[in-house]
Amino acid sequence: MISLQDVTKAYGEQVVLDRFCHVFTTHSFTAIQGPSGIGKTTLLQVIAGLLPIENGRVVMDDQVTNTREQALHPALRHLGFVFQFPALWPHLTVRQNILYGLMRQPHTLREERLAEIISSLEIADLLAKRPAELSGGQARRVSLARTLVTQPRYLLLDEPLNNLDTRLKDQVLTIVSDYWHKHQATVIWVTHEPGEVSGLSPVVRTFCPSGLV
Ligand SMILES: Nc1ncnc2c1ncn2[C@@H]1O[C@H](COP(=O)(O)OP(=O)(O)OP(=O)(O)O)[C@@H](O)[C@H]1O
Ligand SMILES: [Mg+2]
Repeated sequence: MISLQDVTKAYGEQVVLDRFCHVFTTHSFTAIQGPSGIGKTTLLQVIAGLLPIENGRVVMDDQVTNTREQALHPALRHLGFVFQFPALWPHLTVRQNILYGLMRQPHTLREERLAEIISSLEIADLLAKRPAELSGGQARRVSLARTLVTQPRYLLLDEPLNNLDTRLKDQVLTIVSDYWHKHQATVIWVTHEPGEVSGLSPVVRTFCPSGLV
């Protein structure tokens, strides 16, 4: 469960979240739509603990994670974030990027997770490449792989189908759907085309500064 309670987030004078309230229930799949520049990415970044807030609080399960005074470190939130613009480590190979979040795990587990994810996302032949050598669609799949290998409880996806062709879109939808069910994850999917996830029966909501309607 992720609960936002009266959360205010502003960039200088521009208030993007204005006493924002919403509860994402456990194992829910929510698609969020809304015009460009309204605040969808900002909302995800607040939930991930990547941005400070001015007012209110965020609670994840039983833990208060964000207030004006303090924020739980993003790495401690059991959360995976597929960014709108894949932010891969440029100096690391694809293999190293994917395994980054599993650095402290046993070797066998790392290799098992890697093998599973590269086969389902068809990126096995990219492992030795660096991000600058990838196409937009390849980078997006690597970004998804890097997130899913850590098996997050909360999965935030910011327009994850950008730069993918129809076949790869279907593939990503299947992978996210399987992940959602298998891990009982709570999924938040930001999109400009909510129809793209209609097969997953999401709760579709429109972003407003004070909440989702
Ligand atoms: N780091 C920042 N500093 C200042 N203003 C910002 C910053 N990030 C976002 N904004 C502004 O906040 C508003 C909301 O941005 P956000 O990226 O959350 O929108 P969005 O709904 O995700 O848009 P899009 O659909 O185009 O991705 C925009 O007006 C944007 O210019
Ligand atoms: Mg955005």
